[in-house]
Formats: sequence, structure tokens, C-alpha cells
Amino acid sequence: MESTAEAPRSGFWWGAATSSYQIEGGVDEDGRGPSIWDTFTRAGDHIVDGSTGDIACDHYHRWADDVALLAELGVGAYRFSINWPRIQPTGAGPANPAGIAFYDRLVDALLERGIAPAVTLYHWELPQALQDAGGWSARDTALRFGEYAATVAAALGDRVALWLTLNEMAVHTVYGHIWGMHAPGQQLVEDPFPVVHHQLLAHGLAVAAVRAHSRAPVGAANNYSPAWAVGPDGKQDSATDEDRQAALLYDLFHNRLYTDPILTGAYPAGLEPLPGSHRLTDPQLVRDGDLATIAAPTDALGVNYYNPTGVGAPSWPGPLPYDMRIITGYPMTYFGWPVVPDAFRDLLLSLRERYGDALPPIYVTENGCAYEDVPGADGTVDDQDRIAFHQSHIDALTQAIRAGVDVRGYFAWSLIDNFEWAEGYTKRFGLVHVDFATLKRTPKASFAWYRDHIRSAVGAGAPSTS
Ligand code: BGC
Repeated sequence: MESTAEAPRSGFWWGAATSSYQIEGGVDEDGRGPSIWDTFTRAGDHIVDGSTGDIACDHYHRWADDVALLAELGVGAYRFSINWPRIQPTGAGPANPAGIAFYDRLVDALLERGIAPAVTLYHWELPQALQDAGGWSARDTALRFGEYAATVAAALGDRVALWLTLNEMAVHTVYGHIWGMHAPGQQLVEDPFPVVHHQLLAHGLAVAAVRAHSRAPVGAANNYSPAWAVGPDGKQDSATDEDRQAALLYDLFHNRLYTDPILTGAYPAGLEPLPGSHRLTDPQLVRDGDLATIAAPTDALGVNYYNPTGVGAPSWPGPLPYDMRIITGYPMTYFGWPVVPDAFRDLLLSLRERYGDALPPIYVTENGCAYEDVPGADGTVDDQDRIAFHQSHIDALTQAIRAGVDVRGYFAWSLIDNFEWAEGYTKRFGLVHVDFATLKRTPKASFAWYRDHIRSAVGAGAPSTS
């Protein structure tokens, strides 16, 4: 395959990403408190295969093996997340020394291998005690998050090379607090905007907390999904004006709502059709100074990209005033997501166009795909479709860089197969296969491909953290 992937300049971070609940296990160990995901997976039938993250990849005990895999892969950076209730079991108070020690060892082991630690402070694991006190609907949760961020930054701030505050606030809001398919399983259909605002406020407070302890870049890790107006047949050609209106609304609600306030200091206009959006003009919710806190200068924007979303005019009075439609005419991953690398390039170009000089350097903090990944007789997985996915998306990224977008890193999601939220262990995104019966790790063909790609690309440079 013709590749243009050598274009990213020296010092570009080729990396891989994971998150704590998805890989760690060890959920009751060393003083860790319960999170909303522990509660959610243990109650009811929320997860398709009835599984939990109780063991997951057992990374809590096998972290050294996983660091060895990262070294073999040759990445310049590794993005992982910190489990809040390992640090503060109830979301408040002094740090649990055993929790800090776990991440302390991990960070040191990465640095010993020349791998830059990229830390996500929140990948959806709210301490259950804070949920019981109102969760993200409560302003206090944002204040607690600021304190937690300060605690982590004080412990690790001398060594972390990139900070991501909250992961995918849009997905956490919609899946966790409107549809109820993710923890905490709420359906705040009439009043979701406090959850939006308090996450953004938490982001701003965390930026300030991190800055007090670290000179590394900091920003949010947002999910971006280009909104494609499509007709009921999944084609853009058959979209109506109503479909296009609905797609604009989706773009506002999913993509701009969590970027405009951070980069421009204001919520976007045009949210009125969304239930409860009047709350953003309620001075009890959005208090004086909040938007300035949220817009604290950042020097990174984490971009998680998987696919465009097909959107149409609402066909039923559901919780949101648009329908999600399947995009047809493109290859699909095992998750049913369309594979559209050009949409990735266009997204990166559109971010620069929309935000201009306000756009900080971009780090692609997630990009990847699920495939069935059935091991062959020799136990290996020949995942050529995943190789093609990463190759084509890296090519798209390269085109965006050549067109002048400042992108500084690319993190493949994911280093290893893991707990895929509501899909349990049924969707595999890893460069490394995990046998969930034995927890044995086996690098897939994509692992060797990415290793060779990194070797031949210009530098996997271990950046300076000072
Ligand atoms: C999340 C990951 C998840 C991935 C694939 C992102 O929304 O940040 O945790 O595994 O997408 O669904």
C-alpha cells in the first residue's frame, strides 16, 4: 500500500492508549473505592455479555508485562488513565498512598524505557460516593475533581509529559446521563445541561491545578464525530433540509459544545431545540467566572476520532431531536462503524478553520477499530483490516499536517483488547490480543505493522518533560 506516513516531523509522538477501568482489574485492592462503573456493571443487565471490569486485562498485576509490550512496540508515548477512586476512594480527602504508588511505578517504568507518560485524569470513573451525592449534576463534583487533579499533579507532575483532563465529555453525557447505556445509567432527558457544564468546569479547574505542578501541555480529550446528514437509506444524496438541520444540531451538541467554551469562552448559539438547554442561561448553574475558568488557556487538544455519524430528522419523540442513521456505502468495522479516513482529514482541517489561532496543538489521543480477530490455529491474529484502518487514517492525518494543521501525536486505540464498556469483551480494539480466559497477551499482525511503521517514521522521539 502506498503510504505518505513519513511526513509527521521528528518529535511526533507515535503512541498507544488505554484506560484504567478497561484494563486494570484489581477493583477491590489496596484501598481502591468503588466507581460508578463497578456499580453499573454489577447491577442489572447493562453489559451485553454480562461481564464486568473486575479482572479486565489484570493490568493492575501485569503492568510490567504491558510496559514491556510498549517498549517492544517502540512507542514514544503511552496514554493511560488514572482511576480516581484508587487515589481518593470516596472522591475527597487525602490521597491513598497505595493508589499513588501504583501509578508512580508505572510512570517510572515508562520513563526508564524512554516512553513519555500521557495521563488522562478522568476516563468515566466517578467515585460512587460522589455519584450518591449528585454526580455530575452537582457543582460540588467539579470542585472535587479540581482537588483530585491537584493531588495527582502534585505526585506525578514532575514526570508526566501530556495531561488530558476529561475523556469524551460528549459521550459521557449522552451515553451515561441521557440514554443510560453507560454508567451511571441515568436518563436526565429533561435536564442534562448541568452534567455538561460541571464537566467543563471540572476541566477548567483541573487545568489550573495541573499548571501549578507541571509544565507539560494540558487539554481535554474530546470525541469528534463529523455529522453527516443522510436520508433513511444512509446516503448523503438523499438527505432533506430537515436532515441537514438535524445534523447541524448534532454537530453543536456532540462536537462544538465541549470545544467552543474551552477555546472561545462561550457556549455555541443554536442549542435551543435541545431539551433543557435554557439552563445555560441560568445564573445558578453558569455562575460568574465559570466561563473564564473553563476557557483557561490550554496547550493541547486531544482528538478522539473513529467515524462520522449519520444524522437525520427525528422520526419519533425520543430524548434528542435527531435520529442517528447508519451510513451506507463504506466498509464497516465489527462495531458497524463506517470506515472513512477522509472524514478524519476533513475533521482536522475543520477544527483549524473553525477555531483558527485559538486552536492549540492537536494530539490524536484515540483512533482505532474493532474487528472479530479470531486467532488462527497457531494462536496468532492476522488482522489485515486493522492494519489498513490505521494506515489509511495515518495517511489522512499526514494530509492534514501537510495542509498546515499542527498535530503532534497519534495514539492507537488500543494497546490491548479490553473491556469495551456496554459491549463487554465482545469488541476487540487491541494491537495485542488478550485471551480473557487465560489473560495471555499475543501481539497481532497490526502490532508488528505499527512497530515497523514507527521505526521507519521520523523518530518516535521521547520528549523532554521539563
Ligand atoms: C472511548 C474508549 C472506547 C473507544 C471505542 C472511546 O469512545 O474513549 O474508552 O473504548 O471509544 O469505543
